[in-house]
Amino acid sequence: MAKTSLVLFLVLSSFFIALLQCDAEDQIDLARYPRTHISRPHAHRPQPQRCTYDGIFQFGDSISDTGNQIREPAGPRSPCAHNPYGQKLIGEPTGRCSNGRLMIDFVAQALGLSTPNPYLKPGVSFSNGVNFAVAGSTALNTSVLLQNGILSPVTNSSLLVQLDWFLAHYQNLCETAKNCDVYNILQRSLFMVGETGGNDYNYAFLQGKSIEDATALVPLVVNNIRDVAKKLIDLGATRLVVPGNFPIGCSPMYLTLFKNNDSTSYDDKGCLKGLNTFAMYHNQHLQNALQQLRLEYPNVAILYADYYQAAEWVLTNAPQLGFETKSILKVCCGTGGDYNFSLMSMCGMEGVLACSDPDQYINWDGVHLTEKAYQSMADWLIKSQVFECVV
Ligand SMILES: *[C@@H]1O[C@H](CO)[C@@H](O)[C@H](O)[C@H]1NC(C)=O
Ligand SMILES: *[C@@H]1O[C@H](CO)[C@@H](O)[C@H](O)[C@H]1NC(C)=O
Ligand SMILES: *[C@@H]1O[C@H](CO)[C@@H](O)[C@H](O)[C@H]1NC(C)=O
Ligand SMILES: *[C@@H]1O[C@H](CO)[C@@H](O)[C@H](O)[C@H]1NC(C)=O
Repeated sequence: MAKTSLVLFLVLSSFFIALLQCDAEDQIDLARYPRTHISRPHAHRPQPQRCTYDGIFQFGDSISDTGNQIREPAGPRSPCAHNPYGQKLIGEPTGRCSNGRLMIDFVAQALGLSTPNPYLKPGVSFSNGVNFAVAGSTALNTSVLLQNGILSPVTNSSLLVQLDWFLAHYQNLCETAKNCDVYNILQRSLFMVGETGGNDYNYAFLQGKSIEDATALVPLVVNNIRDVAKKLIDLGATRLVVPGNFPIGCSPMYLTLFKNNDSTSYDDKGCLKGLNTFAMYHNQHLQNALQQLRLEYPNVAILYADYYQAAEWVLTNAPQLGFETKSILKVCCGTGGDYNFSLMSMCGMEGVLACSDPDQYINWDGVHLTEKAYQSMADWLIKSQVFECVV
């Protein structure tokens, strides 16, 4: 790679997945909220209730990182550590890759919990769970990716490393507390296994791999996610939510980068068909793996969170949800090109400003969504009953 493109690549690689949003209002087509894809062990449960969770254990990447990656050695270089990231929060970036809160913040709130603290933040309480998600992280070990010719440039804290962190935490869980029953804590906790895997594919695409190449990674990525879920269940987890990938073909970063790719074609929303089909392929494999797990563990709730459908629903309903129609696939924090996105002037770089009305934008920086978009997606997911008690 030439020197400039390597620099750009490294900056770009500090980002990841993202997409759409929504915000529930009465005029919106609520009938299109999905049913959850769960096998319900108790067939007659007329009124599913929201679980009373004691806490949330979150694994994943920048979609859920609330302050881990910025505390790693490479953290200070992360765009998400700089203004205008987090401008809606306490006035300074927290490490969240958005202008404000993420889905995990809204989900925790809906479950009556505060957002679990990031694992790498010193001196904080983990009484309501732990957030192990690291921006830029992959589902596959970085060594495994490297064997496939893919460099993971941002962090080595991939999903299995996060699982190691969980195991260390788990060992200490009851060290200080009296009458502490680890098994009971795990049973009453929500395990969010993802979104993860998106960066494995992002790095592949950004490093010139074809959709075909990325397709070959899908079984590896999905097996890794499944193995982590299995391990958590074997330790005592009984409630897991495993999100799929976003419709990455609608990401302004990809729309910009693959504009001139020979095989580019667009769907009716203006998104890249090939990449969206790829994301669906990953999601289908993931759902098949989860179905296998459910057969293996009939008394464990293993739910698939359909980020893809949630995002599509937001795109489709963007005007009713209060988004500016002309900006649906445009970036709030960025400038240039057809999508207000350019590698030369990305959000978090010196002098790159955010739009004055982020709530009218679905996309924040070309890869990640705005707070309002995440809030709407979280709202959609909550309505999809994915966090309700099924066991
Ligand atoms: C990941 O680990 C490799 C090998 O130990 C190291 O060379 C590299 O700097 C690490 N990457 C990051 C982003 O920490
Ligand atoms: C992946 O990383 C985990 C955690 O560091 C390690 O235990 C495991 O052996 C690694 N697996 C491979 C295939 O490299
Ligand atoms: C770009 O086009 C090539 C064929 O020219 C194709 O193999 C590749 O998958 C495309 N990449 C993406 C990400 O669409
Ligand atoms: C593009 O981003 C700038 C901030 O750099 C913002 O002020 C402007 O509203 C955005 N333009 C469009 C067309 O979205």
